[in-house]
Amino acid sequence: MEVIILPSPKEVEQMGGQLLAQQVRSKPNSVLGLATGATMHGVYTYLSEQHAKDGLDFAAIRSFNLDEYYGLGPHHPCSYHTYMCQHLFERVNIQPENTRVPDGLAPDVQAHCQEYEAAIERAGGIDLQLLGLGEDGHIGFNEPSSSLSAGMRIKTLTPMTRRTNQRDFPPGETMPMHVLTLGVGNILAARRCLLLAHGAKKAPAVQAMVEGPITAMCPASALQQHRSTTVIVDEAAAAFLQLADYFRCVYEHKPDWQKGR
Ligand code: F6R
Repeated sequence: MEVIILPSPKEVEQMGGQLLAQQVRSKPNSVLGLATGATMHGVYTYLSEQHAKDGLDFAAIRSFNLDEYYGLGPHHPCSYHTYMCQHLFERVNIQPENTRVPDGLAPDVQAHCQEYEAAIERAGGIDLQLLGLGEDGHIGFNEPSSSLSAGMRIKTLTPMTRRTNQRDFPPGETMPMHVLTLGVGNILAARRCLLLAHGAKKAPAVQAMVEGPITAMCPASALQQHRSTTVIVDEAAAAFLQLADYFRCVYEHKPDWQKGR
């Protein structure tokens, strides 16, 4: 696991955007695994700007989102489908038929999850999986106690995640309790993972993910077993890392041939 510590949230999101842009340039028909949430705002803004200014080309890109609220249709203003349209899909030249977000209204959840996984497989698997991190250590919506080899399925959000994400819903509207999410097993199957986290609230989860034992109590810790994961955090989120100085030194002395990989 490569850990990069940057001064501010803006730099974390910017570098996340740069690495994704690099992936799009080096393999124009990449299969991207995408995430939503506040951390990704700057990433998608960066990509949209690169498209507008430099013609970053998404014409052959295919994408699969990690998760969706169960019970929300694609056009619900708080669905992750709407989030993706607003933040990325409508701002670049990705083909709508090349984008997938789980269907929060799927009548047969199990069949939908199987079909979604099969579609990822048919596309050749995920080249780069973008991830945020929950304060409780979740990736996707694999909450503490999730199986570390699970596939896509329906999950129940923890009270902590529901309290946090209630901010995305208008006053008076209660957010769903359930989500459809790719499992940790699906995430570990991606060729490369890129996890971004910033802010002091994420510091305990970052420490547990990077330096703690691999445990279902912190699903993100499973990334320790992934062969190519880059974690980018700001100083506040890195506050509890015992090896912070070592990570800074590794990054500072990274050989040129390795930069951007
Ligand atoms: C969202 C997702 C979640 C978020 C995580 C962090 O698609 O998969 O794991 O990445 O909850 O969310 P923010 O960035 O809002 O702190």
